[in-house]
Amino acid sequence: RKPLTVPALAEAKRGGHKLAMLTAYDAGFARAFDDSGVDLLLVGDSLGMVVQGHDSTLPVTVDDIAYHTACVARGVSRALLVADLPFQADATPERALDASTRLLQAGARMVKLEGAGHKLEVIRFLVEREIPVCAHLGLTPQSVLRLGGYKVQGREDEAARKLRADASAVADAGAALLVLECVPSPLAQAITTDVAIPTIGIGAGPHCDGQVLVLHDILGLQGGHRPKFVKDFLAEGGSVAGAVQAYVAAVRDGSFPDAAHSYA
Ligand code: KIV
Ligand code: NA
Repeated sequence: RKPLTVPALAEAKRGGHKLAMLTAYDAGFARAFDDSGVDLLLVGDSLGMVVQGHDSTLPVTVDDIAYHTACVARGVSRALLVADLPFQADATPERALDASTRLLQAGARMVKLEGAGHKLEVIRFLVEREIPVCAHLGLTPQSVLRLGGYKVQGREDEAARKLRADASAVADAGAALLVLECVPSPLAQAITTDVAIPTIGIGAGPHCDGQVLVLHDILGLQGGHRPKFVKDFLAEGGSVAGAVQAYVAAVRDGSFPDAAHSYA
């Protein structure tokens, strides 16, 4: 099967083809996801929580992401592998370039970073040096100390305007993909119309160009608080492969997320 390329992402958006993305941290799940037609795999710094057991993503290091990226890369044949720049690995353009080079050499084909503001310079710096970048706006978990928790973003008019401006700015800076986390559906829809690059939602409603969920969440493994956008696909899929196929099918035909898994 032909690998999915970076230019193919914008083509998918133009063609109205929804993109299905999942996080993966090892070769076994990566292979299963790739076989089930998942378009994009993310080695997320969520691994700090779901794999390492921390209560935030802040302890995750570039070494951690590089290790899991190498593991995942061995299981991938078609999917486009994206790796997160962990906390402060993108604090300066030079640090981001060093970390991104390591992640691409470990097998990633795109890096993801959170925020706009001073990160716009980082995005431009990486893209000019041939490193594809995925931006991430809305609820940015690396901002948890400032935010005081994990909450829906962009609910007030002023915050919504700021988020919309930031989305256009990261696209203008050269990002090829944009993750929107925990934002009201109408705002994610407006952003999706504004920008030419695909938006990938997580708790951002059905109008994004694609969706992403965390591996553990689609298998119903999350303990304690379960965010509204999480759906246990194992319950309906009956097996791991069935769960992934149900997720991919629901993303493609637009039936996930429905209103019950979105913020109005
Ligand atoms: O780290 C992660 O898993 C992520 C996704 C939730 C988008 O950034
Ligand atoms: Na992340």
